[in-house]
Amino acid sequence: MSERRPFVGGNWKMNSTLKGASELIRGVADALAGEIAPIDVAVFPPCVYLLAVKSILRDRQSPIMLGAQDVYPEAEGAFTGEVSVDMLRDCGVQVILAGHSERRHVIGEDDELINRKVKAILEGGLRCVLCVGETLEQREDGRTHEVNEIQLRSGLAGIAEGLVDNLVIAYEPVWAIGTGQTATPDDAEEAHEKIREVLKDMYDGVSDRLRIIYGGSVKPGNAAGLFGQRSIDGGLIGGASLKIADFVPIVRASMQSVRSASE
Ligand code: 13P
Repeated sequence: MSERRPFVGGNWKMNSTLKGASELIRGVADALAGEIAPIDVAVFPPCVYLLAVKSILRDRQSPIMLGAQDVYPEAEGAFTGEVSVDMLRDCGVQVILAGHSERRHVIGEDDELINRKVKAILEGGLRCVLCVGETLEQREDGRTHEVNEIQLRSGLAGIAEGLVDNLVIAYEPVWAIGTGQTATPDDAEEAHEKIREVLKDMYDGVSDRLRIIYGGSVKPGNAAGLFGQRSIDGGLIGGASLKIADFVPIVRASMQSVRSASE
């Protein structure tokens, strides 16, 4: 556990219904009411459910942040199907994902588009979670750190140090996403340390403050081990964020890591 304030996000991906999403956020917000002061918690519902989720969070005066899974980097215009940073802000969004491996590998986004998105989000004053991570093949070829470095340097190209206070990096090894195969705490820690070295080289003045969180089959049973590592500042949770009974204990494991560190 580090001195940085942990960040735990629930990435709901393309799951649930309006009713299901409403029940999920109600359950999570009520279970955590009054508890989450020492850490940042965010949920990333499908875009069409953002307003409903926001309204439930607002009614409860919940500190849980509203996140969006994607954005288009242009301000407005003829971009059928897309939404802008301003539109998302208008709906109460505070944080946006960029570079998620499913957008890189399933939808086919390249580093240049991801870089434009990161820029638009940070220049728009919102928080950005930039996701990086290697595929199984790249890992087996011993290229984990090289791939992470390429994705970091290209994702952050041209982004000035003054903008990165709102940046969180998520290390999500592709082979661990949705597979039940989690990186060991030691493997994740090593990858996080290498990522921090790259950030230090790029943003010497502020790199120590930037949070690096882990994603990939985080569950209630393995969260404490991961969050207890010095270089792991929280998590980005997929499947387990869809169940109140799984997400809440994961958030609590992160809060516990803060308490243990201060004892
Ligand atoms: P899982 O937790 O389902 O492996 O997904 C991780 C992820 O992709 C979060 O963005």
